[in-house]
Amino acid sequence: MSFGTSVRGDFVMAAKTVTLRIYRTIGKMKGTSNYDEFEVPIQRWTTVLDGLLYAKSYLDSSIGIRYSCRMASCGSCGMKINGTPRLACYTKFSELNTSLIICEPLGNFPIIRDLVTDFSQFFKHHKNLEPYIQNKSADIDNKKDLSWFRQTPEDVDKYLQFSYCIKCGLCYSACPSVATDSKFPGPQALAQEYRYFSDSRDDASKKRLNLVDTNHGIWRCHFAGSCSKVCPKGVDPALGIQLMRGHLMKFSKSSMKKAKLEFIHSDDYSGTDG
Ligand code: SF4
Ligand code: FES
Repeated sequence: MSFGTSVRGDFVMAAKTVTLRIYRTIGKMKGTSNYDEFEVPIQRWTTVLDGLLYAKSYLDSSIGIRYSCRMASCGSCGMKINGTPRLACYTKFSELNTSLIICEPLGNFPIIRDLVTDFSQFFKHHKNLEPYIQNKSADIDNKKDLSWFRQTPEDVDKYLQFSYCIKCGLCYSACPSVATDSKFPGPQALAQEYRYFSDSRDDASKKRLNLVDTNHGIWRCHFAGSCSKVCPKGVDPALGIQLMRGHLMKFSKSSMKKAKLEFIHSDDYSGTDG
């Protein structure tokens, strides 16, 4: 915990407070036994993660949260904030525009404790789809001929937005198909499959199509689109899934459409998680 005294000083001078209602696996509040409430001081720039760390540092050290980078890069602080999957470090109290903030663990993940969820199954799905470049003909040890690595800007554009994924699991949490089928790989893994499928350095296209063309695979997506709405990194997993489906239905790889990078803010999320 690195919540210094000077930071607390800023909080003490803050004019406003909000109520943080936190899901607890062992809660104390009467009537709502799974939640505890804490008053935390905020400033205009205070994030939900800052508020949670204030509560943990000064009010109840037993609150279970997971975080690391505090800059929307590591993907470890995902939780439901007022019903929407979000990164706590990337959500300011001021943008929520309410004095009651409810923090709950991500849906579609088993709970370990309080706001901490188990990502084992999520990462298993990701690993099962072999998320790395495969190319049997490339001689990667030949330092003199690196032509295999060369790509045009157009080649890179085909997969670039999908490579921004930080594996935070927000899309997986928001997906109604994941909620009803635990064998469905989910939007994150399928979008990463498309990321490698569309990379000109990868020659495992046929294998990748077979990996997702299964009973519990890519056809289970109902195109709710909630995955793309909650992604904090501008990835559009629903687009990747649709492009991959197009190739399964025999559109050619050479006529592949460029994926557009389009940032959709999580305020548009319609709350379809399970
Ligand atoms: S696609 Fe977006 S929401 Fe899903 S895991 Fe990657 S970064 Fe998170
Ligand atoms: S703490 Fe790393 S993404 Fe929030």
